[in-house]
Amino acid sequence: MSIKDKKIQKNISIGEFMVIGHRGARAYAPENTVPSFEKGIKCKANMIEFDIRLTKDGHIVVMHDATVNRTTNGTGLVSQLTLKQIKDLDAGAWFSPKFKGTKVPTLGEAIAVIKGKAKFDIEIKKEPHSNDAIEEKLVEEIFKNNILEDTVVISFNSSSLERVKEIEPRVKIGFLISRNYDFEQGLRETLHIKGEAIHPEYHLLNAHLVSEAHKKGILVRPWNPNDKEEMNKLIEMGVDGIGTDFPDILRLLAESSSSFK
Ligand code: G3P
Ligand code: CA
Repeated sequence: MSIKDKKIQKNISIGEFMVIGHRGARAYAPENTVPSFEKGIKCKANMIEFDIRLTKDGHIVVMHDATVNRTTNGTGLVSQLTLKQIKDLDAGAWFSPKFKGTKVPTLGEAIAVIKGKAKFDIEIKKEPHSNDAIEEKLVEEIFKNNILEDTVVISFNSSSLERVKEIEPRVKIGFLISRNYDFEQGLRETLHIKGEAIHPEYHLLNAHLVSEAHKKGILVRPWNPNDKEEMNKLIEMGVDGIGTDFPDILRLLAESSSSFK
């Protein structure tokens, strides 16, 4: 029986199980770069997660941290640098000399590499008090690239997700919650903002909570176990996808799991 059929049998109206490559395939390549997305796809991830931020001159780039310090050879806040300044940086050498010369991708460049090969799990990174227009620009890019069906927009910032829904209700959103958040509170917030999914830190979950979310029609996609045992436990709980730095391992586990047979 296919994963999809199994879920339908459980009376959960969801699609296929998502093997989510976290920041591409972060264990094997510099996170949030084209080589990392390509590696994630090679590892048979069917969804790629990446983080986006707005530059000083209003371009969306793919970057996890607020500053470029950790993942490039530069320094400074993304919000205080222009696209040109960010494009001049090396985003690969810090990971391994093999990746020297790798650039920070724009959102458009990330979409071009992934489109047609995997779905999109796009995380809006935004400081709590920022009122930048990243949501408008993201929705515009989703439509320009015709990836609405294959995209979920996620964020820890529920106001940002609410803004996305306000701009375009057809864009699917997933509320991210961290380990110190209460899952049921997260579920209430997800319903309040008309979300389709909740993406919790994986320690928060048990089978009962997964089932509670499913009864309310909410998909559950935890992040980011890198350990086989933990991945297996989550698969057994009936989650709808898992984000990990090792999508190749998760793919093997998902394909051999008795949960999907
Ligand atoms: O997919 C969710 C996960 O990426 C959230 O945490 O810090 O890796 O962005 P972080
Ligand atoms: Ca992320």
